[in-house]
Amino acid sequence: MASEQEVAAVGKILVNPKQDLTTRFRALFTLRNLGGPEAIEWISQAFVDDSALLKHELAYCLGQMQDERAIPTLETVLKDPTQEPMVRHEAGEALGAIGNLKVLDLLKEYSEDPVIEVAETCQLAVRRLEWLISGEDQNGEGVTDGNPYCSVDPAPPAQRKTVSELRTQLLDESLPLFERYRAMFALRNLGTEEAVLALGDGERLAVIFKLCGLWQLAIKDQISNMQRGLFSAKRAAGHIIVIRIRKFSCPESSSLHNPPLSASSKHQHLLNPLLSCHPGLQCSSALFRHEIGYVLGQIQHPASIPQLEAALELDGENAMVRHECAEALGSIGKEECMKILERYRKDSERVVKESCEVALDMLEYENGTQFQYADGLLRLQGEQ
Ligand SMILES: [Fe+2]
Ligand SMILES: [Fe+2]
Repeated sequence: MASEQEVAAVGKILVNPKQDLTTRFRALFTLRNLGGPEAIEWISQAFVDDSALLKHELAYCLGQMQDERAIPTLETVLKDPTQEPMVRHEAGEALGAIGNLKVLDLLKEYSEDPVIEVAETCQLAVRRLEWLISGEDQNGEGVTDGNPYCSVDPAPPAQRKTVSELRTQLLDESLPLFERYRAMFALRNLGTEEAVLALGDGERLAVIFKLCGLWQLAIKDQISNMQRGLFSAKRAAGHIIVIRIRKFSCPESSSLHNPPLSASSKHQHLLNPLLSCHPGLQCSSALFRHEIGYVLGQIQHPASIPQLEAALELDGENAMVRHECAEALGSIGKEECMKILERYRKDSERVVKESCEVALDMLEYENGTQFQYADGLLRLQGEQ
């Protein structure tokens, strides 16, 4: 058991902006493991920092600690529009993770937030709390596969199904996000290579949905540029996908729902989601994509490296997604992960750059002889 002075010494490292980020991360995880009101107090103090990455991790840790004394801080962060979306998202998720029903009304209110990542997070958190109240499939032994990672997740795993059924549920854009999350966590709990590849499909699909965004932009260009009837879209997740819009002639948006598309039959199944998306709507959720990156990091299976790399390198991808993919590569810890992370450690997006720094530190831990990652106390002892 650490003394109050030891907690304070680790807390001072966390709140000190002059310390390097990797040391502050390790201090944060040390405080998370120690728990208690002083640890919560020190973590709460660091929300004034200017690193969105650090602040989102503070909120994540407060949620994982499941200590109700963190609720006031998390409510303040969720409500604060000056905090970055990724930080507010993590505060909303943490409030859901703590599982106290007194935050239900607040989460319902922020389910309508104009920032989509925040709104979707709060919708999920509301569903999680409702699921907790319902007691639904929480008592049936063996109905779901248990979570081997000891994390408090934003949704429970789906009931036991085959990988193929879970994959279908994961990729079904017509289902509520909560149900797709349930499939994602069930696949994660299985943890087999087949399950990892199904999750990777979720990432790949997401890349294509991102493409779908580009596709819509291209269509807008076409409207102002009616003569051109051909649009070749880009590379996605290591696949070359060519989408040709032929005889494009009508500027009405209603006609854009089903533009004639062609693709090699090999890629037709990848294009199907494109055909069903509604121009003008966001086709897929960045939140969902980032969570797939997160669970792939938990599983630490090398089969996911190509998809994680593809998402990290995708130009214009949401920084929250790229961050999660970078950290997942760090926790997988293979040499090829290190090479990928080295390429992005100078990324122009601060969150991505910092994620690569932290991920490289995690990678060093995964491959080294260090006894523990959250080594704030050990470091203090070393200094004495
Ligand atoms: Fe998150
Ligand atoms: Fe994260």
